[in-house]
Amino acid sequence: MTQPLTIALSKGRILDDTLPLLAEAGIHPAEDIHKSRKLIFDTNHEHIKLVVIRATDVPTYVEYGAADLGVAGKDVLMEYGSDNLCEPLDLDIARCRLMTAALKDFVMPQGRLKVATKFVNVAKRYFAEQGRQVDIIKLYGGMELAPIMGLADMIVDIVDTGNTLKANGLEARDLIAPISSRLVAGRAAMKVKHAQIQPIIDQMAAAVERQR
Ligand code: ADP
Ligand code: PRP
Ligand code: MG
Repeated sequence: MTQPLTIALSKGRILDDTLPLLAEAGIHPAEDIHKSRKLIFDTNHEHIKLVVIRATDVPTYVEYGAADLGVAGKDVLMEYGSDNLCEPLDLDIARCRLMTAALKDFVMPQGRLKVATKFVNVAKRYFAEQGRQVDIIKLYGGMELAPIMGLADMIVDIVDTGNTLKANGLEARDLIAPISSRLVAGRAAMKVKHAQIQPIIDQMAAAVERQR
């Protein structure tokens, strides 16, 4: 029997790169996701549905089994940090870097650092490994503003072209991790729905290889 299968997609900049990979796996939304206010979509497969949610919510849906598969940035997955999730495929889309950055003339002090970021867990872990005492300040976006306003000494954020850093007088300092988007699955779903999930992974993997 074919079981129902739900795939959680990150809305925003990942979505446009995800849909062609899904299409290569033969999964097509029944309507134009961009033209709809719906959050859940039927597909050309009766038993497969797509949900389109905030990138940071994808691991939550997958961990709790509300979705079987998901697509999320490695940054989001590192921050979420669950042992119940596996990453069967690197989709090689939305490539960027997770980095520390500071104002151009900022000199690292001996003592505590104020670090602004939306990646609180990643930042804590990273600076602890460096043996640095830090106070983390949680922000939800526009991290580049924090050093300019004196809110923080450094930030931890995504860097792609470097244009946002440059436009705000900041410079990248250290690489924390190279980032790309991943197919993510719940460990339970990987076991229970393996027969349905594995062909999707294989077809998406072939599409990723063709795009390389
Ligand atoms: P959010 O609203 O959560 O910031 P985005 O759509 O901006 O969502 O980003 C989704 C994912 O895309 C991030 O988790 C990251 O993996 C990747 N990403 C973010 N910014 C960039 C960028 N400037 N260039 C390439 N990839 C990015
Ligand atoms: C992302 C990221 C950086 C910027 C990096 O922000 O948080 O600010 O892109 O890209 P660049 O190196 O090419 O300039 P986004 O536009 O997603 O804004 P957000 O703060 O709303 O996530
Ligand atoms: Mg963003």
